[in-house]
Amino acid sequence: LDRPRVLSGIQPTAGSFHLGNYLGAVRQWVALQESHDAFYMVVDLHAITVPQDPAELRANTRLAAAQLLAAGLDPERCTLFVQSHVPEHAQLGWVFNCLTGFGEASRMTQFKDKSAKQGADRATVGLFTYPILQVADILLYQANAVPVGEDQRQHIELTRDLAERFNGRFGDTFTVPDAYIVKETAKIYDLQEPLSKMSKSAASPKGLINLLDEPKASAKKIKSAVTDTDTVIRYDEQEKPGVSNLLTIYSTLTGTGIPELEQKYEGKGYGALKTDLAEVFVEWVTPFRERTQEYLGDPETLDSVLAKGAEKARSVAAETLAKAYERIGF
Ligand code: ADP
Ligand code: NA
Repeated sequence: LDRPRVLSGIQPTAGSFHLGNYLGAVRQWVALQESHDAFYMVVDLHAITVPQDPAELRANTRLAAAQLLAAGLDPERCTLFVQSHVPEHAQLGWVFNCLTGFGEASRMTQFKDKSAKQGADRATVGLFTYPILQVADILLYQANAVPVGEDQRQHIELTRDLAERFNGRFGDTFTVPDAYIVKETAKIYDLQEPLSKMSKSAASPKGLINLLDEPKASAKKIKSAVTDTDTVIRYDEQEKPGVSNLLTIYSTLTGTGIPELEQKYEGKGYGALKTDLAEVFVEWVTPFRERTQEYLGDPETLDSVLAKGAEKARSVAAETLAKAYERIGF
């Protein structure tokens, strides 16, 4: 296979994916399986950086896989697996823990955000080193590109630095990957706080669109999205972050260009835009939810997809790990 390789992961922590996860990442995963040798995983090792109930974690891991299939991942076209099924992630993660400076790890802004939310005393060392495990996740597959949202850019930079460091010290071993970030959807914003990214740890649940929530409830949230006191529907991130966010979501879900949408809503108020977007979202999410339920209702198929995925992932990961171990002197 000489197609370039991509790798990415998503946490099973929250149960439902949110609209930011889908538009910022998963949507690109689906597209890239056509052009790339694609590896996608549910990152359950990352999930335990914060406390998890075992039964819930197990259920959410399956739920994440079902949502990825429902979103359009095709196990014939990509490798879909669960991170903990491939022990090489933790093994190579240790190696990179030992190549990362403490100060360097301390500069990761996501840790600062997440640990602040947790309370500094409760944050684990695992939460602190999670970007380093992510480095191993990516480098194990010799990925050329990593499709993620904007919030992951710093971690991909760290991955590049560490790949170069290892290669420089021990000889050429790892592919140095690029972040694959689609500008238009790199950051989907909270519907109530359009200057903050949409996140599972949203300040108010009204700003967060979970794909598996009752569509009517999500439609209501869209209709009460925070905009501004003006009435003109125009894409302007600085002056009109709320409206711009709605236009981005609308444009991406329908494939209609933003200029076209601006024209369509000329002379109409925000209410019309929100009502239409709510309808667009419900139409898109309804079959997504149905497909998720279908995959969940067929555990044998789901297990077999994940078992095959793990087997394929392991064959690649084991080869890379063996090479790295040999170079290190193990
Ligand atoms: P979260 O960021 O909610 O904790 P994950 O860390 O599992 O979720 O992120 C999964 C993927 O979704 C990552 O590639 C991340 O960059 C992307 N993502 C998360 N939130 C957003 C958002 N608001 N806009 C765009 N992409 C996002
Ligand atoms: Na994230």
